Amino acid sequence: MLDFFNKKENIDEKRNKLKRELIPNHIAIIMDGNGRWAKKRHLPRIAGHKQGMETVKNITKVASNLGVKVLTLYAFSTENWKRPDKEVDFLMELPVKFFNTFVHELIENNVRVNVMGYIDMLPKKTQKAVYDAIEQTSNCTGMILNFALNYGSRDELAQMTRSIAQQVANGEIVPEAIDEQLIARNLQTSFLGDLADPDLFIRTSGEERISNFLLWQIAYSELVFTDTLWPDFNEQTFMEMIKEYQKRDRRFGAIKK
Ligand code: FPP
Repeated sequence: MLDFFNKKENIDEKRNKLKRELIPNHIAIIMDGNGRWAKKRHLPRIAGHKQGMETVKNITKVASNLGVKVLTLYAFSTENWKRPDKEVDFLMELPVKFFNTFVHELIENNVRVNVMGYIDMLPKKTQKAVYDAIEQTSNCTGMILNFALNYGSRDELAQMTRSIAQQVANGEIVPEAIDEQLIARNLQTSFLGDLADPDLFIRTSGEERISNFLLWQIAYSELVFTDTLWPDFNEQTFMEMIKEYQKRDRRFGAIKK
C-alpha cells in the first residue's frame, strides 16, 4: 500500500514538474517493441500487440489530460504487410477491438479520432470500425487521436507529387506556385493545419530509426528515444520523454537571441 502511495506521489511530482506552457502540441509515436515484450514472456507476438493496445488507451488519456492537441500513432505501416498472415490478421482486428471497447471513453475525454493512410485497402470490418469511430467522435473538440494505419511516408510523398503534377497538367496552377505550403496542403496531415508537424517524435524499444514515418513533417521535430518496450510504456515514461523535450532548445535553423 505504501508502495502504491509513493508511486502515486512520484507521478504527481513528475506531472507538476512539467512546464505547462511547454507541453508539445503534436506528439507522434512509433510504438515499437510489442514482439520483444511477448518473446521475453514466452508468449506469441500477438500477445504483445494486445498489451500494446492497452498502452494506447492509457497514453491517449494521459496525453489528453496533459493538454496535448494531436497524438499521432503509427499503428500499421505499408511495410507491415510483409509479416506472417496470422499477425497481420490480428493487427487488422485490433482497431475493431480498440474502438469497440474504448470509444465511449474517447467521447468522455472529448477526444476526436482521425485516421491517415490507405484505409480502403484494409479489411471491410477494420474500415467500418475506423469510420464508425471517426463519426462517433466527430463532435469532440479536444485532442485529436490520429492513427497512421497502412501509412507510409514515401508513398504519401509520391501521392502528393502526383496530385500537384495533375494540378499543373490541368492548368490549375503554374510550377512556380509550388512551395512548402502547397506541398503541406497536399499531404495526409493537411487536415491538421498549423498542427501538422509533430513537435515531439518518440520511438520506443531502443531502435533509433524513422521507418518511413512523417518524413516531411518531422523536419524540425525533437526526436526522443527510449529503451522501454511499447507495452511497458506508461505515464511515467511518457512524462520523462516530455521532460526531455522541454530541455531542448528549439531554434528552427535560426540562432539564439
Ligand atoms: C511494432 O512492434 C508495433 C506494431 C507494428 C503494431 C503497433 C500496434 C499497436 C501498438 C497496437 C495498437 C493498435 C491500435 C489500432 C489500437 P513490433 O511488432 O515490431 O515489435 P518488435 O520490434 O519487438 O518485434
